Parts: sequence; structure tokens; C-alpha cells
Amino acid sequence: MTEKITTLTLLKKKTLGKKIVCLTAYDYLIAQLFDKAGVDLLLVGDSVANVVYGHTTTLPVGMTEMLAHTQAVAKATKRALVVADMPFMSYQLSPEDALRNAGRFLKVGAEAVKIEGGSAILVTVEKLVKSGIPVMGHLGLTPQSVHLLGGYRLQARTKEAQEKLLNDALALENAGCFAIVLEKIPLSLAKKVTETIKIPTIGIGAGPYCDGQILVWQDMLGLSLNKFRFVKEYANLYQIIFDAVKKYIEEVNEGIFPSMEHSFDDDQSCP
Ligand code: KIV
Repeated sequence: MTEKITTLTLLKKKTLGKKIVCLTAYDYLIAQLFDKAGVDLLLVGDSVANVVYGHTTTLPVGMTEMLAHTQAVAKATKRALVVADMPFMSYQLSPEDALRNAGRFLKVGAEAVKIEGGSAILVTVEKLVKSGIPVMGHLGLTPQSVHLLGGYRLQARTKEAQEKLLNDALALENAGCFAIVLEKIPLSLAKKVTETIKIPTIGIGAGPYCDGQILVWQDMLGLSLNKFRFVKEYANLYQIIFDAVKKYIEEVNEGIFPSMEHSFDDDQSCP
């Protein structure tokens, strides 16, 4: 039987020096595929706003969409830890509101939630953890604050900002987070945070020294048209799908598809 990944497995991986492999997933088939392939953690990211719904920021998606995607991913997943990203305005209003919304994610099958921010969210993290809900933190480039940050630029470039990020990471660990995403920060800072805190760091655009890595799957498999320096494309799904659809159009137009092989006669034994 395959071992079920839990928050404790991730902690153990860090202590053993083993990497934690994470990807985003938003639907049943992809989650099933990534889970079977052996990805440790599937994040139902609010990046669904960009790669599924075509928004330019993550701000427009809400609880309704995130719950539906989380349910689909959770149904498909047997081994990986399923983490639901709490959407903008689902946890910022009050710790009570955050708890109510986080609980809804666990009811549809998530095993943990992720929220963005440092010192401002510590009371919320404590409240969720005390209620039995594992929380993943997210520091550095926090896309829900894109307008405050002035874009999707590299974060924590000054000494002061780096000290603040390290203190925020320590504070999130003390508040009870089981892991922290570090997004788009210098690799030296990610290394320092990873060496300082006991819980795993999961990097995206944060260099090789984090305990684990995460990417948005459409970027990693070359389906997105947006290209990012921190992404390695392991396939070019855009070209593969484009060529296949071109071929389908051609074959339907020319009457090549469907052939007899893809058709039924009146033999009742056909399934
Ligand atoms: O929403 C998302 O996909 C994320 C990852 C990039 C960490 O937050």
C-alpha cells in the first residue's frame, strides 16, 4: 500500500534531508495523474484565477470556485497531501471568518489550507491550528497583495526586508504553520530561512536550497503562454495539444474521422 503523505511526513522529509515535491492541481484528472506519479503535495492554488479563469490577478476568485476545485482534487487524490489556498478576503476579515471558511475546505476534502502573509495573520494561524486545521504559510511575493507590492517583482531585496521576512517565518512557525511557501525571493535568503526554521520551506522562484519546490502545472508543462525565469518547462503541452487539434480538424473535414473502427453497426453485442 502507498504511504499517505501527511504534514508529519513533510516534517520528517525535512529532517532526513529529502526534498518535498509539490504541484498545483485544480481538477480531478490532473490530480489523479500527479498523485499516481508521486507528487507529495497538491495545492489547489488560487492561481486557478489566472490559468483556468483567465484573470490577470488571483483576486477575483472566491470560495465558490475554490471549494469546487478543491473537492475535485480531493476526490482524485490518494497519496498526496491536499492543500487548499484560501482566496482573497476569505481569511483577512477576522480569525472567526477565516475559521469558518477554512472549515468549509476541510469539509470538501482538503487536509490543510494555505494563507498569505506574516505578522498580520498570526492570530488567524493560531486559531485555525487550535481548531485542528493545518496551515501552510506564504511569504515573499504574495500575489493577493499585488497592488500593494506594485507588481510581481522579486521581493526582500533590502537588508531590512530580509530581516522582516526571516522574523515572519519564525513567527509563522511559532504560530503553528506546518510549512511555508517562499515565493520569488533571493536564493541566499531562502537558504537562510530554510536553515533557521524547523518546518519545511517550499520554494517557487526561491532557488535550490528550499526543502521543497512548487510550480503551477500549466507553466511547468508548457501549456501557459506566459514564460517565467524561475520555471523549467518539462514538456511543451501547448504544441502537443495544438498539433493534435489541428489534425482532428483536418480529419473531420476530410471525412477520415470517424472511421468504421470508431463507429457502431446494429450488432446489439456492441458495448
Ligand atoms: O496559487 C498558487 O498557485 C500558489 C503557488 C504559486 C504557491 O500560491
